[in-house]
Amino acid sequence: MKSPPRIRVIGSINLDIVARVPTLPRPGETVSGGVLAHYPGGKGANQALAARKLGAEVSMFGCVGKDGASEQALALLKSNQVDLQGVTSLNDVATGVALIAVDAKGENQIVVAPGANAAVSASTLADLRGVYDTTLCQLELPIETIAYLADTVTGLLCINLAPAQPLPKRILDRADILVVNETEAAFYGDQLHGSKALIIQTLGAAGAVAFQNGKEIARSGSPAVVPVDTTGAGDTFVGAFMVAFLSEGSVAKALTYACAAGAAATLTAGAQTSMPSRDQVEALLGATA
Ligand code: RIB
Repeated sequence: MKSPPRIRVIGSINLDIVARVPTLPRPGETVSGGVLAHYPGGKGANQALAARKLGAEVSMFGCVGKDGASEQALALLKSNQVDLQGVTSLNDVATGVALIAVDAKGENQIVVAPGANAAVSASTLADLRGVYDTTLCQLELPIETIAYLADTVTGLLCINLAPAQPLPKRILDRADILVVNETEAAFYGDQLHGSKALIIQTLGAAGAVAFQNGKEIARSGSPAVVPVDTTGAGDTFVGAFMVAFLSEGSVAKALTYACAAGAAATLTAGAQTSMPSRDQVEALLGATA
């Protein structure tokens, strides 16, 4: 039997403080009637858990504060046996927090206070233990740290360009796989298609498309679902894409699998609380448009 993919995720770890509200506030507006919940989150930790739940061996690298929030933020990674030896607890800094509003249609607004995530650096990552063929990161760490990773890690490097922000060209040049949503694709524009990387672009409910050397090479629809909460759906897509791609080597199949996983993640409230099992993804695969 083929051994499971081993993925090193270097990224953010947050506690998500979520208010479920009838409608999202406009600038200057106060919306009342919210229902509050706390969930583990952070794009890095979310992608780590998604990949782990779908069968990968995952090691998480990042930083948290020495506070109560860190225990909540790491709880699901721990209980799902994500290796946390690469997570450093720092004094005098708070665990990252995301303030999230989710409306009745499952759409969200997110404000992040990075806290300890902003301290992830070459020195906190000095001990990149173990042999990893694959590294996955996002843009919720300092850009100098992402640049350091681009210069340092060997093997396959996948970068989810979220949230979009200006990057040194060498980061895009080093990546083997770049994952973007529609907003991020518009932000990076021609820079993306000038890159030699495999570009994976999600299209929300319409599925996802893959490009190589500026040409479309695969496309998938997504199962039709009625979303409860879209928070973490993009992260689930990324984790699922990597597991399926590393397991089978087919971009087309991995897109379809990741679209089903992303759709499954919208059916439950919260980021990490919504990450699907393999059975849940399989169940939705049959319904892909
Ligand atoms: O992608 C969703 C995530 O973005 C949330 O879990 C929040 O923590 C922010 O990092």
